[in-house]
Amino acid sequence: MKIMALRFSIYTLLVLSVYFISNCPVNLAHRNEDDPTIKTMEEFSGYPIHESHFLNSLSSLSVDAETLQKQIDELSSFSDSPAPSVTRILYSEKDVLSRRYIKNLMEASGLSVREDAIGNIFGRWTGSEPELAPVSTGSHTDAIPYSGKYDGVVGVLGAIEAINVLKRSSFKPKRSLDVIMFTSEEPTRFGIGCLGSRLLARSKELALQLEKIVDGQNVSFFDAAKSAGYMNVEKLSTVFLVKGSYSAFVELHIEQGPILEEEATSIGIVTAIAAPASIKVDFEGTGGHAGAVLMPKRNDAGLAAAELALAVEKHVLESGSIDTVGTVGILELHPGAINSIPSKSHLEIDTRDIDEERRNSVIDKIYESALSISKRRGVKLSEYKIVNQDPPALSDELIIKAAESASQELKLTYKKMISRAYHDSLFMARVSPMGMIFIPCYKGYSHKPEEFATIDHIADGVKVLALTLAKLSLS
Ligand code: GLV
Ligand code: MN
Ligand code: MN
Repeated sequence: MKIMALRFSIYTLLVLSVYFISNCPVNLAHRNEDDPTIKTMEEFSGYPIHESHFLNSLSSLSVDAETLQKQIDELSSFSDSPAPSVTRILYSEKDVLSRRYIKNLMEASGLSVREDAIGNIFGRWTGSEPELAPVSTGSHTDAIPYSGKYDGVVGVLGAIEAINVLKRSSFKPKRSLDVIMFTSEEPTRFGIGCLGSRLLARSKELALQLEKIVDGQNVSFFDAAKSAGYMNVEKLSTVFLVKGSYSAFVELHIEQGPILEEEATSIGIVTAIAAPASIKVDFEGTGGHAGAVLMPKRNDAGLAAAELALAVEKHVLESGSIDTVGTVGILELHPGAINSIPSKSHLEIDTRDIDEERRNSVIDKIYESALSISKRRGVKLSEYKIVNQDPPALSDELIIKAAESASQELKLTYKKMISRAYHDSLFMARVSPMGMIFIPCYKGYSHKPEEFATIDHIADGVKVLALTLAKLSLS
């Protein structure tokens, strides 16, 4: 009797939710022939909704917060740097361990697991109408050097828990639900972010790059992937998703900024993701002895790099918008000896904006500066390579609405916001309607060991994700 009531209430909620999203009469029922105790959508569609039913429904969406926290902690132990920092680099031993951990959890949740040629992992809960395009969710578990344990992880473990939440509430999806763990959202090893989702989004340019790319130790992408067990990695085009493969993609993520925490708001609903770009620059000078070569005779590649780093800051600030940002996160000097004038320098520049044109004009100015610095200092600009110059992405209106009504029904405060960080969602938006759900994180810290989100905020995010997925699965 209790179980019936529970089923009754979650379906009541979902019927109302679907109605809310589509604003048209609900006609999405699928009768479960095998289990007569499970009521169909039609059977509930006309039922008057009372506040008490809502409350019952909402309490049936119960997150196992203790287990979820334990999983987050366990996953953080697969790290190449000491706790509390986390370092988990693509295809490293720790990355392979984390992949195994996620696959095991997916299987334990009754999902059917598959991996593609580069190790994007998919766990499917087959819906009652498997011929329809599934709804997908997920994120990444790779972690940049000395980062924290929540970036990406909340969107993978949280997605598996969202499936568990729905299963516990006896929900039956109409469209199948896929949980995806993307390969290498972080650019650490091969210098390109969102490898997995970018390739899923059919980037032929990336496929060509991956055929010849090497890491800092001169290990090719193909060899690295094979060492992690992906022996078919050369078949890159098999990774491409056909447009329309998914009816929706939703990613749960920590905000990585301070707004939600400062405003004491539980949920961020992302409307757009800022446009990221990255650039590699090499200067070459003649080097020499730090004592013997007098200042007028020098062409110091290190100073050229230092000057370009300051020029990046100047051009970003010149944009006049708080939304334009630029970072020189890598600056290497060769030979790296105190008493040797740097003969080579290498910079990697990250610049982003919500306005693509403004971001592009910063990139043009950085190039002009690189040229003029090289001329003035008599150093060679031996490489200026735009590694990626991606457009921004807009979230899908229906997914925004689904997440909004999920937040309202769960009585959680929410606000619409943009994502300044990039995510796999940026690329999934190219092949599927996309949306993102943010939760607050401590002081907005991310990409550093102090990154932290409370389990209560994470559980709220999981609930909103679960309800959003349920709505989208029935639409
Ligand atoms: C993602 O990790 C980003 O750098 O925005
Ligand atoms: Mn990150
Ligand atoms: Mn992330």
